[in-house]
Amino acid sequence: MTVHFIGAGPGAPDLLTLRGRDLIASSPVCLYAGSLVPEAVLDHCPQSARIVNTAPLDLDAIMAEIYAAHMAGHDVARLHSGDLSVWSAMGEQIRRLEAMGIPYTVTPGVPSFAAAAAALGAELTLPGVAQSVVLTRTSGRASSMPPAESLAAFGATGATLAIHLSIQNLDRVVADLLPHYGEDCPVAIVWRASWPDQRIIRATLSTIAAAMGEGIERTALILVGRTLGAGDFAESRLYATDYDRRYRPQSSESPWSGWTAADE
Ligand SMILES: C[S@@+](CC[C@H](N)C(=O)[O-])C[C@H]1O[C@@H](n2cnc3c(N)ncnc32)[C@H](O)[C@@H]1O
Repeated sequence: MTVHFIGAGPGAPDLLTLRGRDLIASSPVCLYAGSLVPEAVLDHCPQSARIVNTAPLDLDAIMAEIYAAHMAGHDVARLHSGDLSVWSAMGEQIRRLEAMGIPYTVTPGVPSFAAAAAALGAELTLPGVAQSVVLTRTSGRASSMPPAESLAAFGATGATLAIHLSIQNLDRVVADLLPHYGEDCPVAIVWRASWPDQRIIRATLSTIAAAMGEGIERTALILVGRTLGAGDFAESRLYATDYDRRYRPQSSESPWSGWTAADE
């Protein structure tokens, strides 16, 4: 018996990996975080599967479900939204599984920041503009931020910020970032990226609060940075005509000359 943690993606049911789909299909038990995991993903469960929405359960109750499946010898598909590496509560479940000696696997999913960037048609790292993306959040009821991980500290780097779990703190986000990014810095809010009712709001740091309008709550990402909407950036060296590289040696003097993929 194994617990399969599976990233269920940002919302669109076809943004699930093939591996995730197959594990769901072969597991007699499915525990899913119902607040964000799309119900259509559950169509992959076997007809006889025990399917449990864990949104109203506490950790003890979730572990009791897993333990019962363990005793019955049933694999468990454990679904969380997006990818499991950020804000999934997988870490605390794994700690308990290890203490109980229950094996597990981890299958990644499409994270919401990637789905939001796709919705915007945006590359979040552009040459000469920003080369880092910070996945962060602001303090909420359930979690406070470590003091050094402030928006101001990240903002001082000029990186592109993907701010999760914070749409209710938009005014605070703007106030903290204005000194670092300036009033005209592009901001995009993507609500329910990849869901059929997805909404996108583009503005600047000084206009985003007024632009947001009604109905945007909870499942939204705030993206901030000069990469959003930047047209004036250098092309990458990777595809430059004169760039000497392993796959495209420029002369017989090139260290890559004569190299073939079979040399790898
Ligand atoms: C508990 S975290 C889960 C993050 C998830 N593990 C991931 O990989 O994106 C929930 C937050 O992720 C963001 N989020 C999740 N799905 C989203 C979506 N489809 N569109 C926009 N933001 C989303 C929102 O900021 C939301 O408050």
